[in-house]
Amino acid sequence: MATDKNEILLKVNQVYNPPRHVVAGAYIQPEEYESLYEESIQDPERFWARIAEDELYWFQRWDKVRAGEHPNYQWFVNGKLNITYNCLDRHIKSGRRNQLAYICTNEDGDEVKVTYGELLDKVCRLANGLKALGVKKGDRVAIYMPQIIEQVVAMLACARIGALHSVVFGGFSASALRMRIKEARAKVVITATWTKRRGKKINYKMNVDEAVEDLPFVEKVIVAQREGDDYELVEKEIDFHELLQRHSPCCDAEVMDAEDPLFILYTSGTTGKPKGVLHTIGGYNLFTHYTTKIVFDLHENDIYWCTADPGWITGHSYLVYGPLSVGVTSVLFEGAPDFPNPGVWWSIIDRYRVNVFYSAPTAIRLFMKYGETWPQKYDLSSLRILGSVGEPLNPEAWLWFYEHIGSKNCALVDTWWQTETGGHMVTTIPSYRAKPGKAGKPFFGVVADVVDRAGCSVEPNTVGNLVIKEPWPSGLRTCWNEPERYEKYWNTIAPYYLAGDLATKDEDGYIMILGRADDVLTVSGHRIGTAEVESALVSHPAVAEAAVIGKPHELKGESIKGFLIIKEGQNNSEKLITDIKLHVRRELGSLAVPDELEIVDSLPKTRSGKIMRRVLKAQELGMDIGDISTLED
Ligand code: PRX
Repeated sequence: MATDKNEILLKVNQVYNPPRHVVAGAYIQPEEYESLYEESIQDPERFWARIAEDELYWFQRWDKVRAGEHPNYQWFVNGKLNITYNCLDRHIKSGRRNQLAYICTNEDGDEVKVTYGELLDKVCRLANGLKALGVKKGDRVAIYMPQIIEQVVAMLACARIGALHSVVFGGFSASALRMRIKEARAKVVITATWTKRRGKKINYKMNVDEAVEDLPFVEKVIVAQREGDDYELVEKEIDFHELLQRHSPCCDAEVMDAEDPLFILYTSGTTGKPKGVLHTIGGYNLFTHYTTKIVFDLHENDIYWCTADPGWITGHSYLVYGPLSVGVTSVLFEGAPDFPNPGVWWSIIDRYRVNVFYSAPTAIRLFMKYGETWPQKYDLSSLRILGSVGEPLNPEAWLWFYEHIGSKNCALVDTWWQTETGGHMVTTIPSYRAKPGKAGKPFFGVVADVVDRAGCSVEPNTVGNLVIKEPWPSGLRTCWNEPERYEKYWNTIAPYYLAGDLATKDEDGYIMILGRADDVLTVSGHRIGTAEVESALVSHPAVAEAAVIGKPHELKGESIKGFLIIKEGQNNSEKLITDIKLHVRRELGSLAVPDELEIVDSLPKTRSGKIMRRVLKAQELGMDIGDISTLED
């Protein structure tokens, strides 16, 4: 790699001023930043009301910007809107029907361009189709699809009629999908037959078949057949494209209350059961719109590419709702980052003249490994802003991204946020000074701090818990069917929202994220609960007990290691280990399969029987074990 370690260490505490051309065209000038931030937190209601008025279309104006009591807040009380109206109709009405909404491409280089007008047509047809199938406002629809335009259409069609979507990432197994369908009692499931990754077809429909078996409340499965398919659809199955053909392209957007739910998205926590994070329409539309516009400084003619899958929150907020609401053209790519070769992403930036590129540290580190000769083959001069999300962007990766992708001529924004926060919470805006390795400052309207367990701010550069001290418009409103899990975010270091990350804050107020404080792992940017993997492991007939830890990994950020106690009479063999890994793949999906499994005689536990993963991790990494006074043995 071109940059050496000493140079990196020197640069960590350096401040990077954004290039002049980025500042020149930016919505917010650096000298305006501080006063605008102050205004946004001194009078958040006024601040958000102004943005809501200037940026979005409301069928009916709200009575009050913020109401409610800790920790249940409502935003834009009695305001009426429909997020798809803001994402589609609004642009068409302002004469931008033929503007491209998406350029869809894949690893074979195929290309489909979809305008805002065409997208609205498809969304309305599917919305009418869903209505004809009996889907009503408040019903749940599960979506399990690859990164294709049909997935975006499916999400928006639900939002059009007020049904809640619950998108499940395609990397999850049939049984993980089934659990999510059951929890939400989805009436309809929308899927596609397959995706292609690294030249191989991966079947989605088979997983759906298995997931919905004997679930009587799933009334219909809508299947998007893909090129070359000729499935004979059975019983409750309906062809996606036929359904679109049969129904009218006119469907008025349902008038929704600002606090009506928009979607559920399951995410991992510290128990074996993922939680269904629920977002509502008004605050989410506003916050994702505004952060998309300001953090990426997006202007109408920009070409924007967010590499996330809609199966995760980044895809929801910054591939679908945010960019559509702002009205830009997005690239939608189906495939792996390095197939057919490690230059595929750079070739897409070159071909489509991408201006703003939003990706993840795990991908950046992968490209660092392949070396800078790959990006050098392409013209990346269209890039103006680079973004990162999902895990800490270490200074080395920051600098590589900045130098070799951005040619030292782009602003780089490292955005910290979560499924629960709906949108960006901590990040520098592009026109403002950045510090490699530090996410930056709180976004407008966000009061973030680093505190001790008692809720007191820690000294600068001291490790503490990242909290958000005031509600913000796009915070989760509850956890589906489990309100007590929602309360926990706000009651652990009351009255603050506890993010679950460790962080520091420097003298200038820049926040550096150090990683999770709880037993949640980030593996290749995917959030996975150790408890989920442990329950999958112990559901294998040979496993008696299991404990899972995350180990630092050069590319993935973290890799999963499991420690197992096997049942009497079972042999510790390579075959058994392979079999257990396969079992986890079936239970959860390939993303959760441990890289390493070690069979042990005992696990460190507290006297009350809780596994001390901290001890296992310290031992594994050769670190100090710390206080073990509560250890049983
Ligand atoms: O640990 C933080 C990490 O990802 C977690 C949230 O995961 P998820 O809900 O899946 O959402 C990921 C995409 C928003 C956080 O608690 N994380 C996210 N962004 C960053 C980050 N860690 C460090 N730096 C970031 N920029």
